[in-house]
Amino acid sequence: MRLRISPQSIELVRETANIVEVASEFTALKRQGANYSGLCPYHEEKTPSFSVSPEKNFYYCFGCQKGGDAIKLVMELKSLPFAEAVSHLAERFGIELKLEGRSPEAERAAEQRTSLRRSAHKALAAATAYYHKYLLKSPAAEEARQYLESRGFLRSTIEEFRLGYAPPRGRPGFTQAARTVNLGREALEAAGLLSQRGGERFVDRLMFPISDRRGRMVGFGARSLGDAKPKYLNSPETEIFNKRSLLYGFPQVLEATRREKAVLVVEGYTDVLMLYQSGIKNAVATLGTAMTGQHLKTLSSYAEKVYLLFDPDEAGENVLEKAFFPAAELRLDLRVVRLPQDPADWLLENPAREFRELLSGASSVLEYVVRRNTDRVRGTDAVDRARALPKIKDLVQRIEDPILSREALRLAAEALGMDPGTLREELREEPGAPNVANVRASREAPPARVTPRRDQRVLSDPVVEAGRELLALMLARPDLSVRALREGMKAPPPWNGSVMLGTGDFGDETQGRIFALLEEYASGGDGAGPHQGLDPILSDERARPLLDEISALRAAGERLYPSTAALRAAWFRLAAIKRAEAKLLTEDFDEKYRLHTEVKLLNAAAVEASNQTLDS
Ligand code: CTP
Ligand code: MN
Repeated sequence: MRLRISPQSIELVRETANIVEVASEFTALKRQGANYSGLCPYHEEKTPSFSVSPEKNFYYCFGCQKGGDAIKLVMELKSLPFAEAVSHLAERFGIELKLEGRSPEAERAAEQRTSLRRSAHKALAAATAYYHKYLLKSPAAEEARQYLESRGFLRSTIEEFRLGYAPPRGRPGFTQAARTVNLGREALEAAGLLSQRGGERFVDRLMFPISDRRGRMVGFGARSLGDAKPKYLNSPETEIFNKRSLLYGFPQVLEATRREKAVLVVEGYTDVLMLYQSGIKNAVATLGTAMTGQHLKTLSSYAEKVYLLFDPDEAGENVLEKAFFPAAELRLDLRVVRLPQDPADWLLENPAREFRELLSGASSVLEYVVRRNTDRVRGTDAVDRARALPKIKDLVQRIEDPILSREALRLAAEALGMDPGTLREELREEPGAPNVANVRASREAPPARVTPRRDQRVLSDPVVEAGRELLALMLARPDLSVRALREGMKAPPPWNGSVMLGTGDFGDETQGRIFALLEEYASGGDGAGPHQGLDPILSDERARPLLDEISALRAAGERLYPSTAALRAAWFRLAAIKRAEAKLLTEDFDEKYRLHTEVKLLNAAAVEASNQTLDS
């Protein structure tokens, strides 16, 4: 039996290990108010941006954004595995660690999970064979076959990648066939092959089977033939299907990738196929998500060079900036190619040989990221240029490899039209990290607002506006809001269940705090619910700094003809606006589509509710 440290002991170590004392082993700390600060032990710097909060027992560096508790600090700076870092700290702070074996129940649960995973793989292998055969043989798949042909896919490609077709509505599908081969519902569920209602998940779609690196089937990407939305439906996240680490193209592309020590990362399944068919057999695609560090890690076991081929849009550029650091750490030569169109379409009109030429024109991701930070200021005067310096400095400092870091400096100087020596001097004078007092604020504040700053002066922020209206109504009629505050607001079908709001959904901190107070009183934690009116809230100590805002909002609310319907409308509107915002930001297609659907439903619910206010 394997022993492990009990969770209680780990918690005790976390609580007891004094972060100031632990961090002092790696850098000299000076007191600054409630916190301590010093030079960051993770990266080279001249002005202290590393800060330690004894009260919260955590550290954070403004320069490199590393942060965490004592265990993490020891793990990272002493390069110890988790258990050893915990023992090290336990010894130092005189804690006796309790060890435990897995209980028989835990042992059994683990076995069950393993066997469920196995049957999921089995179900997916069977489904792949079923859909593939259906595509090749069934009269009902004629349209699908023609579609693939019109896109230029050869039979050999279809076979090699085991493309398939899921039967149209009204015909028996895979779940029926599964019965005859002894696959139970549990296996189908674990494989992500069932719809939410328990029926076929994939209907009338082209099936792209997705394997892990070992060639085990883990899920599907499924494209609609017509206009059915979404265009692609992926398998749901399961124990074996994790979009952040999987790539489309394995195991077929492994051999060429190893041989060439290089790999292309494209956006679409069809791009992988068309490249492969054109003799470029070392391309993979992400599964509708942004490229992650995990993807790069996977690729680094086979390739030294990674070409990232992407649509030149904003989201694509953000991905590059995020990919740069993990790539540098893995010593991957990450290159970037901006394409005029999708590779699959490009290859239908141009010879593959020329595609290789596109690749030779790739720029290094470092160059790309530096340019991105300097482009906005290029050619302008010294004052404008100074604005680019903090970001450049941050970048240059975060790059641990000295050669790359020097290269970044050179590229930045070139882009800014300066001499590298002068730029180095200017970076040195650039003021360091913000005051340590900000550490707490930055940890406790709600997530940063996403509205672009340039808009804030001219336009009002829709989130703040929607939040204000909702709070105004709630403060005018707290009795009407109790239920929604407790359980969320029940939305009409097809919405499932209630729409929740939280403090983080409000556009400014004051609003968030007022909402939190209302929520607390609604839950009746103190025995004084809003059925008694606002009085108990107003006499709450924490409401004091908010009183002006509360009374202004309440007055505004009274002018709004508060009613249950008005409250519902305001609630759904805020929820819709927040989701619309999140939709813009996410780089995950499935998430985007889910949010898109929710926004539509919530807007419809808001309109319906506000029509009711007109009736009454
Ligand atoms: N994608 C997705 N969900 C969508 C749209 C796209 O998951 N609703 C993912 C798929 O992985 C897709 C990739 O994003 O392969 C690229 O999207 P797109 O270029 O639209 O699709 P292609 O695969 O290139 O398909 P086609 O060539 O048929 O347009
Ligand atoms: Mn495409």
